[in-house]
Amino acid sequence: MIVAVLLAYLLGAIPAGAWVARRRGVDIRTVGSGNSGATNVQRTLGWGPGLVVGLFDIVKGALAVWVARRLGLSDSLAALCGLAAVLGHNFNAFNGFRGGKGVATSLGAMLLVDPQSSLAGFVIGFIAIYLTRYVSAGSLIGAVATVVVAQSLERPWWELLILVIISALMFYQHRENIVRLRAGTESRFGQKAASPP
Ligand code: G3P
Repeated sequence: MIVAVLLAYLLGAIPAGAWVARRRGVDIRTVGSGNSGATNVQRTLGWGPGLVVGLFDIVKGALAVWVARRLGLSDSLAALCGLAAVLGHNFNAFNGFRGGKGVATSLGAMLLVDPQSSLAGFVIGFIAIYLTRYVSAGSLIGAVATVVVAQSLERPWWELLILVIISALMFYQHRENIVRLRAGTESRFGQKAASPP
């Protein structure tokens, strides 16, 4: 079990955003929001690299849960591996425990843990992004919606716990975005990258 959790953490720690940006000669930590996620890569380098990073990060989270199940772990331990992948992405031991904000990796993990609630949360988050043009706010709304839907579907306690922890981590990682949203200075989707605040 420990090996599976460790593998999941290492999988999550693969810094796709930083690598894709570096291949284009950009240090992603020094442009836009300074985040290495798909949103900032799209903002800085365009749709192609942004989509590659987003998909890669989703696959990291999903793969962590899938591999755990293939190794014969229970659904609850597989969900724990999904959480480990998110922790690897957000708090990368090979990068001074810094990392991304975990939106795509969380989505990938949650989709395998509870496809129904996550898809509902994804659609609600997507609509929120479309209406507000704030990826950060839409992502947080989507995360909360996933938990609310899972709760209303009376999913098992361990699943609710994992979903709540993943969502809480997302809020923690977006603390600077929340300050900017409150101040009205958050970048809207489609806005060009500037130096990090
Ligand atoms: O993917 C993370 C997103 O919610 C916010 O990213 O770059 O605007 O801080 P960013």
